[in-house]
Amino acid sequence: MSDPLATLQREHLRALEQYYAEVLTALGYDGVLIYSGHPALHFGDDQHASFCSYGHFQHWTGQAGLSHSWLLIRPGQRPICYFHAPNDFWHLPPQLPAQAWTEHFEVLTGRHDTPPKLGAGRFAVIGNVSDDDATALAAQRNPAALLSALDEGRVRKNEYEIVCLSEANRMAELGHRAAREAFLAGGSELDIHLAYLQASRQREGELPYGNIVGIGAHAAVLHYQHYDSEPPRSRPSLLVDAGHRFRGYCADITRTWPGAEADPLFADLIARMHDIKQRLVAAVAPGVDFVELHERMHRLLGELLVESELVTASAEAAVESGITRAFCPHGLGHLLGVQVHDVAGRTARDGTPLPPPAEHPALRLTRELEAGMTVTIEPGLYVIPMLLEPLESTPAGQHLNWALIERLAPHGGIRIEDNVSVTANAARNLTADIE
Ligand code: GLY
Ligand code: MN
Ligand code: MN
Repeated sequence: MSDPLATLQREHLRALEQYYAEVLTALGYDGVLIYSGHPALHFGDDQHASFCSYGHFQHWTGQAGLSHSWLLIRPGQRPICYFHAPNDFWHLPPQLPAQAWTEHFEVLTGRHDTPPKLGAGRFAVIGNVSDDDATALAAQRNPAALLSALDEGRVRKNEYEIVCLSEANRMAELGHRAAREAFLAGGSELDIHLAYLQASRQREGELPYGNIVGIGAHAAVLHYQHYDSEPPRSRPSLLVDAGHRFRGYCADITRTWPGAEADPLFADLIARMHDIKQRLVAAVAPGVDFVELHERMHRLLGELLVESELVTASAEAAVESGITRAFCPHGLGHLLGVQVHDVAGRTARDGTPLPPPAEHPALRLTRELEAGMTVTIEPGLYVIPMLLEPLESTPAGQHLNWALIERLAPHGGIRIEDNVSVTANAARNLTADIE
């Protein structure tokens, strides 16, 4: 019986082969060697840092944990994978997965911690390649025009990639449900993190990014990176931003939950943030300018702040005066793929840079949406003292309800984040409701 995922992966590989052939030929290369990368050693030590293989290597193979390996891509020739699996009695060598790509490539299994020999011709080598290896290869290392063309080739996801992103979402959702239960059962941040890993069946080193697990005021730290091992006395809220990989493709999902002692205002703000997220997801379609969608998020946040009496000015004034940016300093979302913040979000199709507007420097996606792009939609609202306090001495400060802000501060903040694939005329939300 044919495996539908294998069929889709074969189509993905054929499309990649065609795209690479066009790009390499246009730029005058006979081929490109793609290096997976390898884990760094801690200085003066014999222990390695955690590792994730290069995005373009994953694009072909989906192997996020494979190191010291190489792919040789030459137009019109069968691609070669130099699969690093040396005989080693200290470690179990990696095994080739039962996936269609292993038949598509000529796979040369063995020791490949030095680069393979290239034949005559004009080659590029891409990835984190050492000076010695680049010199030995006599290939151009990471040429900008090639990298930008290959990045562009990752922007629109095909059916195989969308299936992978959906499966990553499905696994991450299992973790989010377990995280919520662990929180309601009285667990610490560490307990919640471990419950997430267990339910989503992954080890910490395989996560697409470090889980963000913040109870209470920690939820206001956008990329909070610690896990308290003791449950705090007060636990009014939980924010979990956590994902999963499937064949390299990432999920990036955030949920915020009220605790038993949450202020009713906070629980209401969470419900309304879900509505805002839904409205923004419904607006995703080809031709939509993501900067405009981000600005729409700010208008919706302005309305929310006014309706919940956190701000006494108009919604427009809350946006104009920078109040909404102080409550939400990050962007509406970003491209998602084999990297959680996927490549080419700030570059037009022809390679022209598209920097974010000066007042929204954190916005990672400034392009017009196109069918196949997969993006996150992640509106948020936080009490971040270092951003709000400076407003106190400005005219905007007079329109902030400081007493309410103080009531909210122990809850930290709210972020609701879904993964959305742009279709030919609208969008498909890859993230389920998580109850
Ligand atoms: N998890 C990081 C982000 O949402 O962009
Ligand atoms: Mn995100
Ligand atoms: Mn996230």
